[in-house]
Amino acid sequence: MINITYKSLAINGGKPITKEPVLIHKPYLDESDFKAVDQAIRSTFVSGNGPACREFEKKLAEYLGVKYVFYTNSCTSALDLAFMVKTFPPGSEVLVPNFTYTSTGLGPLLNQLNIKLVDVDPENGNIDVSKIEQAITEKTVAIVPVDYAGNPADMDPILKIARKYKLYVVHDTAQSIGTEYKGKKTGTLAHVSTFSFHGTKNITTGEGGALVTDDDEIAKKVIFMREKGTDKQSFLVDNKDRGYYEYVSIGNSYVQSNILGAMGQSQLRKIDWMITKRLEIAKFYTDNLKKIPNIKLPKTTLGAKTNWHIYYILVPPEDKYWIMDALRAEGIMVNVHYTPLHRNKFYQALAKDEEMPGSMQFFGGLLRLPIYPSLTHDERTKVVEAIMKVMQAS
Ligand SMILES: Cc1ncc(COP(=O)(O)O)c(C=O)c1O
Repeated sequence: MINITYKSLAINGGKPITKEPVLIHKPYLDESDFKAVDQAIRSTFVSGNGPACREFEKKLAEYLGVKYVFYTNSCTSALDLAFMVKTFPPGSEVLVPNFTYTSTGLGPLLNQLNIKLVDVDPENGNIDVSKIEQAITEKTVAIVPVDYAGNPADMDPILKIARKYKLYVVHDTAQSIGTEYKGKKTGTLAHVSTFSFHGTKNITTGEGGALVTDDDEIAKKVIFMREKGTDKQSFLVDNKDRGYYEYVSIGNSYVQSNILGAMGQSQLRKIDWMITKRLEIAKFYTDNLKKIPNIKLPKTTLGAKTNWHIYYILVPPEDKYWIMDALRAEGIMVNVHYTPLHRNKFYQALAKDEEMPGSMQFFGGLLRLPIYPSLTHDERTKVVEAIMKVMQAS
C-alpha cells in the first residue's frame, strides 16, 4: 500500500526532486536538420513529392530493405491508403487491436469496412494472439497488428493465422521504425506497413508518415491515390511535356512537402545513434526500477529488438492517477497514453469492458516515462529518484 500522506512528497507540500520539469517528449533536432530544411526551402521546390521526398523514400527503402516507400503527410493517411488500394466486398471485417490510436481503426472505416476489436496482452499492450482466431468470421478480410511502444507484435503466429484465413495484413508500425523482429526490420513483415514521423516519433518530420510495401500492384495504386487520384508523379518524374496530368482513380491529397523530405533524410542519417541513446535510457530505467515493489516493467516480444519509442511502467491501477500527479509534482512529466478504443465514444458500441480484460488491465496500470535522445544522465537519475520517492522504495 502506498502512503499518500507521506509529508516529504511534493504533492503534499514537500520539496520536489526538480524545479526544472523533465519533459516526456522532445524531438532530436540538430544543425543538420536546420541546414537540410534551409537548403530545401531555398531550392523553391516547396510543394509535394519533390526530389528531396523521393531521395528520402529511396534512403528509407534501403534502410528497411523494402522495394517501395511512399512518404505521406501522416501515418493516418498511409493507413487510409492501405485500405483504399483494396476492393473488399461490402460488410467485410477488419481485426484491430483494442489498445491503439484511433488511426488504426480509421484506415478500414474510411474505406467502408467494418472493424472488429481484439483484446491485447495485459503485459505489453500488443494484440493477444490467442484471441485472433475466435474473432475471425467468413466476413474477415484483414488484420492490423500494432507495435505498441515500438515493441513488435508477435508477427510469426499472426502471419500464420493470416495465411490460413487468407487475410490481408497491414502492419501499423507507426511507433516501431528501426525495431527488429527475429532479425527482420518492421516494415518488411506484412503486405503493407505504415510508419509515422510525427514530432513524438523516433525520427520526425514534424508531421508525416510512410506506406511501405514489396507489392507491385499495391505500389502502382498508391502512386495515384496519394496524389488525388492523378498521374502527377509520372509528370514529375518522367518529365513528360504534355503540360497536364490526368485524373485516373479515386484518391486523396497525401503527398508531403519537399521541405520535409529534406528533413526526413537528415533525421534518417541519425536513426541508429538515436535508437542507441533510447536503448541506454531504457536499460538505465530497467536496471534501477526493477527492484521497486508494485511496479512492472515493459515486456519485450520474444526475438525482438525494440526501438524504445516508449518506456512505460505498470503501477497498481487504483493508485495510477495519484502516482501520475505525485510524479508531476516532483517535476517529472509522466503521462498516460491513449485509452482502449472501446472506451471512446466513437467505438463504444463495439465492445464492453468485460470483453476486453487485457486492455483494461494494461491501460489500468500504464504510465509513460520521459525517453528521448537528449534526456541527460542527470534527468534520467531524477526520474528514477522521483519514482523511488513516490513509491516509497527509497
Ligand atoms: C499506433 C498508431 N497508429 C497511427 C498513428 C497515427 O500517426 P500520425 O499522427 O502520423 O497520423 C499513431 C500516432 O501516434 C499511432 O500511435
